[in-house]
Amino acid sequence: MEQNRQAPIGVFDSGVGGLTVAREIMRNLPSERIVYFGDTARVPYGNKSKNIVLKFSRQIVHFLQTQEVKAIVVACNTASALALETIREEIDIPIIGVVKPGAKVAAAATRNKKIGLIGTRGTVHSGLYTEIIQEYDSQIQVIGQACPLFVPLVEEGWLKDKVTLEVAKRYVNPLLDQGIDTLILGCTHYPLLRSMLQELVGEQVTLVNPAYETAKALERLLKENNLDNNQGVEEEFPYRFYVSDAAEQFRDFANSILPYDVKMTKQINIEEY
Ligand code: DGL
Repeated sequence: MEQNRQAPIGVFDSGVGGLTVAREIMRNLPSERIVYFGDTARVPYGNKSKNIVLKFSRQIVHFLQTQEVKAIVVACNTASALALETIREEIDIPIIGVVKPGAKVAAAATRNKKIGLIGTRGTVHSGLYTEIIQEYDSQIQVIGQACPLFVPLVEEGWLKDKVTLEVAKRYVNPLLDQGIDTLILGCTHYPLLRSMLQELVGEQVTLVNPAYETAKALERLLKENNLDNNQGVEEEFPYRFYVSDAAEQFRDFANSILPYDVKMTKQINIEEY
């Protein structure tokens, strides 16, 4: 099927967190349009079962297909870990998640073969980061730590707060005690804690941001499939945002982190898809 190179890229997440991935796509692929969906009515996905995350992700993919997207980015780590492989078999457009790009870069970055992974329970317990990293080098040890308190702290905007630092120490110090030299920020929200975490772990630990690596992987994927927009975008609003609830709250958060003024966010009923 001949795809329209000017068609938008569908990006989805359980809520606002995936905006860290959208932000990297905006920075690195400025000629691409984006349709973003945040499942704000059903967030968080991080503690939910695989079946539920798969059901929600399928509905969102169906919605994005009605928007005639040319490719899909699963910006959510949990959905990438639990739903992506199944959905890839069900659709005929390219789809990528954030886990593989992050895992590959982490595997290449570690010197002492000890990588720390922080993420939601769903992501850490899925074992997918470990699986991909060990395909690259079976000697690498991946030490996972679920950090469920980070998501609400970030959504409260407590990015530099001493409470957040205390929580971060509880989660990350055991990984440091085990001698990691690389730490994967395996959840959409964690890039927003990057400077705090870098200070905590010290310069000798490399932080891997899957959001950034995914934008790079998307660039390669679009080129390989002749889907990169070779004409650029001229319209005033190349980015469209949809949510399943609380559109205004979403818009305020989006405006606090995006290099772009989000004027319109539309609420849809995702259960219809
Ligand atoms: N977007 C999710 C992730 O990256 C974090 C928020 C949630 O638990 O839904 O795993």
